[in-house]
Amino acid sequence: MKSEIKKICCIGAGYVGGPTMAVFAYNCPHIQINVVDINEDRIKSWNNPDLSLLPIYEPGLAAIIKKCRGKNLHFSTDIKKHIQNSDMIFISVNTPTKTKGIGKGKALDLKWIEKSARQISNYAKNNTIVVEKSTLPVRTADTIKKILESVNTKEQNPKIKRKNFTVLSNPEFLAEGSAVDNLQNPDRVLIGGDDDSSIEALKGIYLNWIKNEKILTTNLWSSELSKLTANAFLAQRISSINSISALCEATGADIKEVALAVGMDSRIGNNFISAGPGFGGSCFKKDILNLIYLCDYYGLDKVSKYWQQVIEINNWQRERITNIVVNKLFGTISDKKIAILGFAFKANTNDTRESPAILICKDLIEEGGNLRIYDPKVNSKQIEKDLSCIQNQNNLDKEIGNWKFVNSIEKASEDADGIIILTEWDEFKNINWSKISQKMRKPSWLFDTRLVSNTNEAKLFGIDVWSLGN
Ligand code: UDX
Ligand code: ADP
Repeated sequence: MKSEIKKICCIGAGYVGGPTMAVFAYNCPHIQINVVDINEDRIKSWNNPDLSLLPIYEPGLAAIIKKCRGKNLHFSTDIKKHIQNSDMIFISVNTPTKTKGIGKGKALDLKWIEKSARQISNYAKNNTIVVEKSTLPVRTADTIKKILESVNTKEQNPKIKRKNFTVLSNPEFLAEGSAVDNLQNPDRVLIGGDDDSSIEALKGIYLNWIKNEKILTTNLWSSELSKLTANAFLAQRISSINSISALCEATGADIKEVALAVGMDSRIGNNFISAGPGFGGSCFKKDILNLIYLCDYYGLDKVSKYWQQVIEINNWQRERITNIVVNKLFGTISDKKIAILGFAFKANTNDTRESPAILICKDLIEEGGNLRIYDPKVNSKQIEKDLSCIQNQNNLDKEIGNWKFVNSIEKASEDADGIIILTEWDEFKNINWSKISQKMRKPSWLFDTRLVSNTNEAKLFGIDVWSLGN
């Protein structure tokens, strides 16, 4: 197959497709890149002249979009046209866990992948290289190949020319909040496939800014499984440290000290051992569920149970936090005001997918609490969607609580009995506790689930403090 790539199409303008293609465009001014999506609003936002209104917030992203958009980076809903014109097509569509049918709750729903593959099969020109970017179950490339080749089986009509496709797996390892930096300086780039010249073509793109030693080539299945395994290992570290946080609370050990001591062992390292309210994000839970589904499918019962436990600890940690809040506030939060600081699943992103805040807030509302939610980047519409209940200031049913979006820490704290920090945003590190303590109702509580606030200062101003793992 060809090796010089001049035009790229990326199907899916989401958290993966958008930033990835922006960094490609930035580093490869000689390549024309079209990012396409069925979602018209999303494409409109990517084309918005006001860069503060891009659909995704990532540090450094707006500057790249400003530089490349309209030059070699374009956002469009004309999927057919851009598939037809491209030498290489990336699939970056969403792959959520199935909510019904076979594999419900575990397997990935591949309907968007299948649809993309069919579109490529119909419109792409001969010799197009198809690259899987979305996280996929192992052996999905097989499915994609079969669909792509389906055009070739309609051979009754001699006018339909046989098309050749190769499929490569090029999993994304970017973490939200640092996506641009991760793409610009990756630990490694993984390319799985069996067609050498297609691999070389994709490698050629990355070589524009990444050293050869960092580009790893494997077979397709190793590449797909590596992505799942990397995410499962990272999530496992978080569940491990979170399980120990509960033991610290029971014994008088301090989770920060334990993590420091453990992480200084060079065999272990200090990344991904910060205790918190549980991991969120679009990948970890989904990928582990996918791994579990694979293990079940291949009859590896013990392995399946092993990974299941990582998810169970994660669920348990979130429930544990809700219980602690309710217990500390005298066993009931009915009619009490609670400030929720942070709703995103981690700092520096506006993404809330699988955020621990969702379950914790739902449980607190169920317990009758009146939540005042503040997040520097998540908007109230998104929170409304996640909590599946609209903002309600005058709830007549006092048994069930309500929530309201506010735009500052101060507003969230007014008359609050408790403040819960759920995301590690920088501005929560330097809260002025002298000012905030005056706004709260007494006795006032601070629950720091991310270990970011100055708890000594909060105590100094008369606030009772519970911090995770202490
Ligand atoms: C993850 C992987 O890191 C990335 O390589 C993959 O491609 C996609 O999934 P992401 O979900 O964006 O990225 O964020 P990540 O930084 O991995 O954090 C995931 C969750 O774990 C967050 O909720 C975060 O708060 C939590 N976390 C992370 C901890 O609780 N403690 C830690 O020490 C690290
Ligand atoms: P991710 O985090 O994997 O990028 P997102 O949900 O943020 O997931 O983005 C996936 C994008 O893919 C969405 O904007 C969705 O509209 C788009 N998409 C899904 N199916 C198709 C399709 N067949 N053609 C074009 N875009 C699609």
